[in-house]
Amino acid sequence: MTVLVTGGAGYIGAHVVRLLRDRGDTVVVDDLSTGDASRVADTPLVQIDIAADDAVEKLTAMMHEYAVDAVVHIAAKKQVGESAERPAWYYSQNVGGMANLLMAMESAEVAKLMFSSSAATYGLPDVPAGTLLDEDVVSRPISPYGKTKLICEWMCRDASAAWGLRWAGLRYFNVAGAGWPDLGDPAVLNLIPIALRALTNGEQPKIFGADYDTPDGTCIRDYVHILDLAQAHITMLDYLERDDRPHEIFNVGTGAGASVREVLDQIARSTGYDVDAPVVARRPGDPPMLVADVRRIREVLGWQSTKTLAEMVDSAWAAWATTHGEPAVPPASG
Ligand SMILES: NC(=O)c1ccc[n+]([C@@H]2O[C@H](COP(=O)([O-])OP(=O)(O)OC[C@H]3O[C@@H](n4cnc5c(N)ncnc54)[C@H](O)[C@@H]3O)[C@@H](O)[C@H]2O)c1
Repeated sequence: MTVLVTGGAGYIGAHVVRLLRDRGDTVVVDDLSTGDASRVADTPLVQIDIAADDAVEKLTAMMHEYAVDAVVHIAAKKQVGESAERPAWYYSQNVGGMANLLMAMESAEVAKLMFSSSAATYGLPDVPAGTLLDEDVVSRPISPYGKTKLICEWMCRDASAAWGLRWAGLRYFNVAGAGWPDLGDPAVLNLIPIALRALTNGEQPKIFGADYDTPDGTCIRDYVHILDLAQAHITMLDYLERDDRPHEIFNVGTGAGASVREVLDQIARSTGYDVDAPVVARRPGDPPMLVADVRRIREVLGWQSTKTLAEMVDSAWAAWATTHGEPAVPPASG
């Protein structure tokens, strides 16, 4: 059985590929738009832009060539702000890419698919303050990026009804850390890398609003360690083999949030930097709390997170120099 990982040269994909190496044959499809070929080492990599006009033909051919049995579809564009600036391109990349992949899978008779979805599908959910988000909360995505992820889930469901696709979607919450020092997050888009970038540049990270209805006034998010997340993909591949699959959508988080201040405090402890973050105005569209209800993935798949916030920040910091080429030493020791 060969597993095709799209986006396998990216941050999350490279972790999944590394875990899959112990399991059997793996092949990666990536256009290297944000990925890096060195991250997949000797796993075969086929360079295809899944959103391109000739993608269906190329994907179908490589699925036959590698005898692909299941697909882990991770490739996507993921920047919320960019998606608001270039919505049509985001739809063409994420939704168009998914359409091409599904057509190729149908034509090559590959019927198992795990899809990387996102907590961005929830958007601004209409729930009382402090509610954990379960998978049945009505999705109200606010960014074009979040909408593309929700549409992709619908596309999978329709393919399942039409030709028997066996699929499951993982809605990732805030992915953090590194499983190996050479696989850190190269993008500086989330709180931990943004804070590390600021501190290593001699600046302070900013807190966007400290007057939210949360215990310390700052926003709360659900951070999940990349290795826990990657392991959930392996569990999901086993799930797709089962005939009884009661659910298609699963949250992946810890079920416990951390506030911006708590994360910054941990960053100070992990790095040795003095963190004295100024509070600035709220950003529009930031809900006070986004934390996963993780009962479904625990009860149905037996998966649960194992790693702490300290392990996420420690590993992100250990990977920082390898990934960003900057010295990972705090001012006191460097
Ligand atoms: N990082 C997070 O916190 C997070 C949270 C929720 C969901 N996700 C989802 O997880 C997935 C991976 O995220 P990541 O953080 O690893 O991002 P990433 O940018 O590091 O990885 C994406 C990979 O997909 C490839 N790719 C992009 N467009 C492609 C295309 N048209 N054809 C072929 N390859 C293409 C890129 O080259 C890259 O290797 C994305 O689908 C993202 O939406 C990520």
